[in-house]
Amino acid sequence: MGGGAREHAIVHALLRSPRRPEVTCAPGNAGIAGEARLLDIDADDIDGLVRAARSEGVDLVVVGPEAPLVAGLADALAAVGVRCFGPTAAGAALEGSKAFCKEVMVAAGVPTAAYRVVEDPADGIEAISSYPVVIKADGLAAGKGVVIARDESEAREALEDLLVRRRFGTERVVVEEHLDGEELSLLALCDGRSALPLASAQDYKRIFDGDRGPNTGGMGSYSPVPSVDAARAADICATVHQPVLDELAARGISFHGVLYAGLMLTPDGPKVLEFNVRFGDPETQAILPRLRSDLLDLLEASTIPGGLENAELEWALETAVTVVLASRGYPESSSSGDVITGLDEVGPDVSVTHAGTARGDAGAVVTAGGRVLSVTALGTDAAAARASAYSAADVIAFDGKQLRRDIAQRAA
Ligand code: GLY
Repeated sequence: MGGGAREHAIVHALLRSPRRPEVTCAPGNAGIAGEARLLDIDADDIDGLVRAARSEGVDLVVVGPEAPLVAGLADALAAVGVRCFGPTAAGAALEGSKAFCKEVMVAAGVPTAAYRVVEDPADGIEAISSYPVVIKADGLAAGKGVVIARDESEAREALEDLLVRRRFGTERVVVEEHLDGEELSLLALCDGRSALPLASAQDYKRIFDGDRGPNTGGMGSYSPVPSVDAARAADICATVHQPVLDELAARGISFHGVLYAGLMLTPDGPKVLEFNVRFGDPETQAILPRLRSDLLDLLEASTIPGGLENAELEWALETAVTVVLASRGYPESSSSGDVITGLDEVGPDVSVTHAGTARGDAGAVVTAGGRVLSVTALGTDAAAARASAYSAADVIAFDGKQLRRDIAQRAA
């Protein structure tokens, strides 16, 4: 379930399964509609999703976004006996509450930045020992709840915004030491007992080249990260993901689904910036096309305690590069109704997954949101994958198209 390019990439990977699953997607988008039957049910309609899962005789629900997980979709599905890939609300609180996440990390001995939780702006200022400092809203904020304050006046403004004006309805914020280094996304499949790392990835959060401009939902990604091969990913997983699973299990929470660690590779080793409880977007668009194992088998096994015990992952040796095409005004706003051309001119070796798209008059595919499409290409190395991804991205056109030109440049 979900309606973004991440979910489109998941649908692609499930349809590659030799078991030939029948895939239904709620609510989906104009691209997913070409490959799976759509159900017109919103992500926040938990009752509607549960009813549909039962009436459709669904064997496995794969949840894309975090909000339904935090709202208890996995719990509600379990209550009616439908298997769900994604954690219960108790586990999803790792993403739903930054304060809970930090508390679990500290209890589990996971390396992370020093922090304090505060409810009052004055306490927030008092907690800061140096700048820049990171200030995070405690609840879900669609990627917009993290501020890097460069001085006291920016910190005061962020604290007032979050705690007085209650921009995201949050009562607490996490004030956290700022970490320097290269960012890494390491996602792991979890079966309640063990964590199996997926291939490493990096995403590009800022709108403009050179990591300038405001944060977005993600403007591109690539996988694998050259400095994080399978052996290093396994080491990180053993010190980051596994202790969190063990800590949750000790609290009676069996975590099934994706545990996504957003890490900073600091001179003192990897430190966790945050955990998410679902596939990353746009990392998934670069990770899954390289997966040679059967995703359906893996997701099913994750729902069974210890089900991944003997699982091994096979990956294509190529590098995958994903370039996101966004609409005019993004991320502050978005435009819609602009006709998209060139989708049929992209070669078969390139995968185009849809996010903010819809069918316009006369059946044309039109823009319908901020992030519109993800264009993913595989290549023998990052340079080759970049060349293919950008030549396809240049063939696709719509009024106001925005894209970054430096995705995976650092790996090429
Ligand atoms: N790539 C960032 C996220 O999925 O939250």
